[in-house]
Amino acid sequence: MATRTAQVSRVSARNASFKGQAARGHVAVRPAAGKNVSAARFVTKCAAGGNVAEELGFKEMRKGIKEASEESLLTPRFYTTDFDEMEQMFSQEIQPNLDMAEFDACLLEFQEDYNQKHFVRNNDFKTAAAGIEDPSLRRIFIEFLERSCTAEFSGFLLYKELGRRLKKSSPVVAEIFTLMSRDEARHAGFLNKAMSDFGLALDLGFLTKNRNYTFFKPKFIFYATYLSEKIGYWRYISIYRHLQSNPEFQCYPIFQYFENWCQDESRHGDFFTALLKSQPELVSNNDLEAKLWSRFFCLSVYVTMYLNDHQRDEFYSAIGLDTTQFNMHVIVETNRTTARIFPNTLDVENPKFKEILDELVIVNGDLIALGKSDSPMAGLQKIPVVTKFATLLLQLFLMKPVESGTVDFEEQKALVF
Ligand SMILES: [Fe+2]
Ligand SMILES: [Fe+2]
Repeated sequence: MATRTAQVSRVSARNASFKGQAARGHVAVRPAAGKNVSAARFVTKCAAGGNVAEELGFKEMRKGIKEASEESLLTPRFYTTDFDEMEQMFSQEIQPNLDMAEFDACLLEFQEDYNQKHFVRNNDFKTAAAGIEDPSLRRIFIEFLERSCTAEFSGFLLYKELGRRLKKSSPVVAEIFTLMSRDEARHAGFLNKAMSDFGLALDLGFLTKNRNYTFFKPKFIFYATYLSEKIGYWRYISIYRHLQSNPEFQCYPIFQYFENWCQDESRHGDFFTALLKSQPELVSNNDLEAKLWSRFFCLSVYVTMYLNDHQRDEFYSAIGLDTTQFNMHVIVETNRTTARIFPNTLDVENPKFKEILDELVIVNGDLIALGKSDSPMAGLQKIPVVTKFATLLLQLFLMKPVESGTVDFEEQKALVF
């Protein structure tokens, strides 16, 4: 109980600071007090050739190849969809009124390939990784890189398959998907290389064949993928700008690549905006189902990020970020962007929204603890906790939504940092 009270009061303190910033219309991400990781102090036992996986508590498939983290509700998924339905949606034969002008413009953008020469590594990567000496921090870096790599690779697989399957029925849309899969392959490859700086990489070919694929109907792919691209943009750019302003936390060079990298994600999101616009019933203000699904996907994407990141405070404090402020900043900005196209979004700037998210973090912590418990009563004890978790989610979902989507917003000029 004492721990719980301490957690609540920490959360309240953060609430207070968030309220003031939200009232001014933006959320500045401030450096967290705490560790500054000094690079290249000494090479850890792991990096010096010990068994990295064993040292850090990971399982290895074979030497230097990490067994992928167990799949859960909060881990990145691989997706598949109804490709026949997708073909029909974008076939000009079946949909002669499909407005192709935006797709043509998107294709030209992707063909420019702005980041063709961006993802080139240098010698600093390995030195910097070796300089991150604390085993628990190395572990958390690997987890961050693995999570990001899996999410990027998931995009690569889905877009590649869509590019292949739509080639005949809609060559322009297919070509865009293929070029987006090019981008995601670069992102995933770059992250996997970064993992190997810490001594463990993923076998992406093995994952392709062995990971579960979640089936989503095309319309759910559009909502979910639009959001994951836009939230990806806001995460990358926020970390980049924060480290530009606070270079003392620049402990690993990958973050310096995030500025151009996030432009890829933004372009991917813009293409999904065009896809959604081409299916007006999915973003119509008069369609209750569209509004409910819009809110549902916003909720699941925001909550997943919030809970995941709050299990990894150590990572964010290592790069000088306060997890809560960083997350709320990303959620607020993603929600504002999303409001340009989704017919409903969540009222994330209402302080109640964050209050419930913070309660969810605590309940999720209780669930994780019960999951690890050997007690024969743990199963029973979980029931009220799961009920509480579901109730909080429902409360968030039922909060008065933001009516959105009809206004053509001017691009917001003010940057947040
Ligand atoms: Fe990406
Ligand atoms: Fe992307």
